[in-house]
Amino acid sequence: MARIAIVGVGAIGSVVAALLQQTGRHEVVLCVRRPLAGLTVETPDGPVEVRAQVVSDPAEAPAVDWVMVATKAYDVAGSARWLETLCAQGAPVAVLQNGVEHRERFAPYVPMELILPVIVDCPVERSAPGRVRQRGVMHLKVPESELGGAFVGLFAGTAADSVAVPNFVTVAWRKLCHNAAGVLPALLLQPSGVLRSEAVGETALQIVRECAAVGRAEGARLDEDVAEAVLRAYRAAPADGVNSLHADRLAGRPMEIDARNGVIVRLGKRHGIPTPCNQMAVALLEAMARERMTPED
Ligand SMILES: NC(=O)c1ccc[n+]([C@@H]2O[C@H](COP(=O)([O-])OP(=O)(O)OC[C@H]3O[C@@H](n4cnc5c(N)ncnc54)[C@H](OP(=O)(O)O)[C@@H]3O)[C@@H](O)[C@H]2O)c1
Repeated sequence: MARIAIVGVGAIGSVVAALLQQTGRHEVVLCVRRPLAGLTVETPDGPVEVRAQVVSDPAEAPAVDWVMVATKAYDVAGSARWLETLCAQGAPVAVLQNGVEHRERFAPYVPMELILPVIVDCPVERSAPGRVRQRGVMHLKVPESELGGAFVGLFAGTAADSVAVPNFVTVAWRKLCHNAAGVLPALLLQPSGVLRSEAVGETALQIVRECAAVGRAEGARLDEDVAEAVLRAYRAAPADGVNSLHADRLAGRPMEIDARNGVIVRLGKRHGIPTPCNQMAVALLEAMARERMTPED
């Protein structure tokens, strides 16, 4: 039995809460920044009502055995406000976010050896306040380590596919290759089917090739044809899919631009690898986001 706090009860955090509750072994604490009247997760196996302690003030959070952070990558500073109380007894912090810099993001707040990066794959979205629709299995991948093994054990017996992998760097960069191409639908404000056009598809290939080159320099083992595989996957997926970068832009929220494409440019510079396509995508998307946030005269 473990006492587990979830910081960020959105799409991913809600599914994690439902899974942990279903084990019957854990006590779950939901850490939210606005009141939560109730939480229902429509899982592929039917609806699950999450009944857990809800805390909205970091000062009132209890010390726990594990913390799972499932906020967006741009909400790290706010998420970190919870950690002093939650981690008062040295709890490890699992970071369930996109990108490849999980440890770097939380290193200012948590000892490095207590940070566990987690790569999440799960088709899920918030359908209404306090309601989440999960359309497929949640896959969780963590590095093979003592902490990784303990994390996997928390989900034992659940419907999640939770595994510790020896090649985590590769797993994280492979996911980033996929996410990097998602910048194009977000820029064009068109669903993922836009990647079926020849010209946009060609640009996606270049974006992913840059990502893969930087990933290899960081130690990831990526197939030579990773870009073609990513493009095939986009083209085989439903044409009306809207990725989270695109959804955030449509809703006027901040976007995970830096975690998904900015990182390729930054690490590319460190390794002397040119990343002109990602650089342009980041510059354009950031300029458009700023434009939207600038009040009209
Ligand atoms: N959704 C997917 O299918 C999916 C799949 C794979 C990976 N991911 C990754 O998983 C991560 C989480 O994504 P998501 O889709 O679950 O995001 P999300 O639905 O936007 O949920 C994020 C939650 O964090 C909350 N939050 C932000 N700052 C907070 C703070 N200071 N204290 C407490 N709560 C705070 C937000 O609160 P409010 O409700 O107040 O906004 C929101 O409920 C991202 O890195 C994403 O890229 C998502």
